[in-house]
Amino acid sequence: MSDHIFIKSAAEIDAMRAAGRLAAKTLKMASELVKPGVSTEEINEAVHTYTLEAGAIPAPLNYGADPSRGIPPFPKSVCTSINDVICHGIPSKKEFLKDGDIVNVDVTCILDGFHGDTSRTFLVGEVSDSAKKLVDVTWKCMHAGIEAVKPRARVRDIGAAIAKLAESHGYGVVREYVGHGIGRGFHEAPQVPHYPAKGRNPRMLPGMIFTVEPMINEGSHETYLDPVDKWTVRTADGKLSAQFEHTCLVTETGVEILTDWKYIE
Ligand code: MF3
Ligand code: CO
Ligand code: CO
Repeated sequence: MSDHIFIKSAAEIDAMRAAGRLAAKTLKMASELVKPGVSTEEINEAVHTYTLEAGAIPAPLNYGADPSRGIPPFPKSVCTSINDVICHGIPSKKEFLKDGDIVNVDVTCILDGFHGDTSRTFLVGEVSDSAKKLVDVTWKCMHAGIEAVKPRARVRDIGAAIAKLAESHGYGVVREYVGHGIGRGFHEAPQVPHYPAKGRNPRMLPGMIFTVEPMINEGSHETYLDPVDKWTVRTADGKLSAQFEHTCLVTETGVEILTDWKYIE
């Protein structure tokens, strides 16, 4: 991947606002399906159809093949990640939501060539207090990261804010999967780690657009990639994981959340 960080033009920013708004609307539509007994394939079909009817393309479908590493293209139009699945869960007609689960639904659409990417973790029926707390803290972690987004600040400030809050609760912050620049590309520079990672630490400048999408584990930060499907990422210790994601624009004064539900409500 190129390490060039694009500064989006006013016209590109408008296109990204529209893509972000559609991704948010799609996620909200999907959230209304979340209840015990629903299959993750039903959520996939609803997202797929809704996206096409809006004149857009579901970005996950057929994304990310890497033959050199034996990775097949992602086979579905949305990611659905239940309980100990951290991210990239594959919807299935054999997988049903059940009372007490937590499920992350991660929507990415391509509208007029530009991507909008957003996810939330939802509670299915009656959920344990410990799971509710993990989901609540993860939402706050995403917002703590977004509050660090401002011109001249550095990308590492985002991860530092997230890890400080998560670790104060004894939670693990996933390291292998990070936020990312986004625009005409699904995953552009910069990488946005959710912990204070060593290495590249660019300054944020107005016109940059990237995601903030912390994955927070109830236990260890360590991950385990499904050796069969090569996509599903689980916690190594089998404990719960939650995630929230917004697509964010750096403005002259701070941040604009392009996938904020306030723009669709
Ligand atoms: N939406 C995910 C992200 O936030 C990426 C999913 S890639 C897929 O970056 F292929 F699994 F869809
Ligand atoms: Co993303
Ligand atoms: Co996403």
